[in-house]
Amino acid sequence: MGITGSIAAYKAAVLVRSLIKNGAEVKVIMTVAACDFISPLTLSTLSKNEVLTDLFEDNTWANHVILGRWADLMVIAPASCNTIAKMANGHCDNLLQAVYLSATCPVMIAPAMDEDMWKHPSTQTNLKKLESYGNTILPVESGELASGLSGEGRMAEPETITEVLAGFFKKKNDLTGKTVLVSAGPTYEAIDPVRFIGNRSTGKMGIAIANECIDRGAKVILVLGPGAEEPPELAEVTNVESAAEMYAACVAAFPRADIALMCAAVSDYTPVTVSKEKIKKNDAVLVAEFKRTEDILKKLGELKTGKQLLVGFALETENEQANAVKKLKTKNADFIVLNSLRDEGAGFGHNTNKIIIFDKAEKSYPFEMKKKEAVAKDIIDTILNNQHA
Ligand code: C5P
Repeated sequence: MGITGSIAAYKAAVLVRSLIKNGAEVKVIMTVAACDFISPLTLSTLSKNEVLTDLFEDNTWANHVILGRWADLMVIAPASCNTIAKMANGHCDNLLQAVYLSATCPVMIAPAMDEDMWKHPSTQTNLKKLESYGNTILPVESGELASGLSGEGRMAEPETITEVLAGFFKKKNDLTGKTVLVSAGPTYEAIDPVRFIGNRSTGKMGIAIANECIDRGAKVILVLGPGAEEPPELAEVTNVESAAEMYAACVAAFPRADIALMCAAVSDYTPVTVSKEKIKKNDAVLVAEFKRTEDILKKLGELKTGKQLLVGFALETENEQANAVKKLKTKNADFIVLNSLRDEGAGFGHNTNKIIIFDKAEKSYPFEMKKKEAVAKDIIDTILNNQHA
């Protein structure tokens, strides 16, 4: 675990304690700046190991290569703006940087800084660079900052980091270094300032998939429709309302994605005109005209490169299997997940679902009715195990 110079360093003590409690063996490296915020004695006591700061101590050289190979996982929490910049650019002026550059294990980074520094394009570019090296960035939280201002930039809470780490060691980690785009929930198409056309999707399935991917080490970009359930804390969430907004968000995020799962129940139609004022009732029949929305999955199918996997969902009420396979082909998806509406307990709003997955060769993978969390696992297992089919 690396600790750098940020006021959030005081939370590192809680994190070390929590990791030890969970059975981890922890070796702490601190930067000189970190030692101004929290005492190495506290960390060595909690970690039950010597705390290392310098490349050279008492005329002995700290072997950063061995340390980098010793760990199953390297966590830098808090990661200051300066450390992030150095990591992104290969600087090697302290022990932490040397170990980072030598580490052969996955690396997770929990940034902590004031909002303006967090939002600065150079910080964001550096974080993107780190992600491109396969490192995982743990999302910052919003709230009170050391400056007294309130905003984004707080380090993820030690409990959250512990949970991610527990997930990392428990699961297969077969999505570490991968980015997964998930669309979930309904879309609302405005008719007037207060009314909309929507559907009964709750986003449960997509959120379960997002959670599963996070647990398996992925970075998840979740494009979430309105009124959906709580998204995972560790996902990068874009909240959208209409099909057009969902289209724009998915198309923008797709180039970053290794895998895209389009679970959202996107409206197929949207009103031709949206009334500026609330439509007044009268005794006549109300007629509204609708036009088609853009098919997001189809667009991603056109944009897809050979390295990306695209997964669609189908909800059919007749000729289910034939229609699902047809959809897979016309939208150029690699897999399609067919939800059965005929089965009690499957589909919208339920906590369970029953699915059949089809691949491009029309091979089917049927599953029993299961909780949506278990269905999410089946979907990810199936697409990863059969991606070259
Ligand atoms: O054609 P249909 O709507 O039945 O296809 C369902 C699949 O297509 C789902 O994966 C859904 O998320 C996606 N879809 C989409 N954009 C639309 C309509 C559907 O991405 N406008």
